[in-house]
Amino acid sequence: MSENARHPGRTRLIAPQPIASQGTGVNVEFQQLELLNEHTVMMMGDNPALPKMPQAPKLLDFFRLRFSKLAYRHLLQSAQNALNAGHEEKVVIACLLHDISNGALIRTDHGYWGAQLVAPYVTEEVAWAIRHHQALRYFADESVGYQYPDSYYAFFGRDYVPPEYIQRAHQEARQHRWYMTSRLITVYDEYSFQDDWNVDPESFTDIIGRNFREPREGLGFDGSPSAHMWRTMIWPNNFL
Ligand SMILES: [Fe+2]
Ligand SMILES: [Fe+2]
Repeated sequence: MSENARHPGRTRLIAPQPIASQGTGVNVEFQQLELLNEHTVMMMGDNPALPKMPQAPKLLDFFRLRFSKLAYRHLLQSAQNALNAGHEEKVVIACLLHDISNGALIRTDHGYWGAQLVAPYVTEEVAWAIRHHQALRYFADESVGYQYPDSYYAFFGRDYVPPEYIQRAHQEARQHRWYMTSRLITVYDEYSFQDDWNVDPESFTDIIGRNFREPREGLGFDGSPSAHMWRTMIWPNNFL
């Protein structure tokens, strides 16, 4: 039974995530608490404004029903370009998954959040590569033709210097045996969002099947260390 059916006619308030309010000067917590009464409650469960997720959601359900349009295209395009270039499936799956966090969960430190999110379902190498792509993006590697992205000049300004923990992560990654897997994510990490561009997510079904362990209970309901992160994407407006 949906929350709506249980509470017909009630208004449900959506509280912004605390982390999205920090530093903005906008905080509606007290105003919302004052609005609560028998007709007005906080949002819990399915938000009717969002497409309903299946009972046991799989990876591609999140692509179709939860990821922003930008993340959807960016991830499919990265994976398709890596595939077209003839890379191993571990690189293709890493490209397909590398920006789930900033696409649908949280932007800040997205490589680290993203790695944690997928770690129970992919190899250690793929999770490691996703974690480190965040740092490697800031540093060129001429050996594979990777240059500092023009988009980063636009995002951060020409004088931006990455913080020390990012510089350290880059240095550590350079020495690591899995460096090239992470580096290749950055090579295919391009932003191009033409409207006529289209990659069918279903075309990755076999690669996902071989490289991503879909839990029988569905992502979010398998009790894994990151299940709560998938549930947060299913119900992003839950008050608690
Ligand atoms: Fe990224
Ligand atoms: Fe990316």
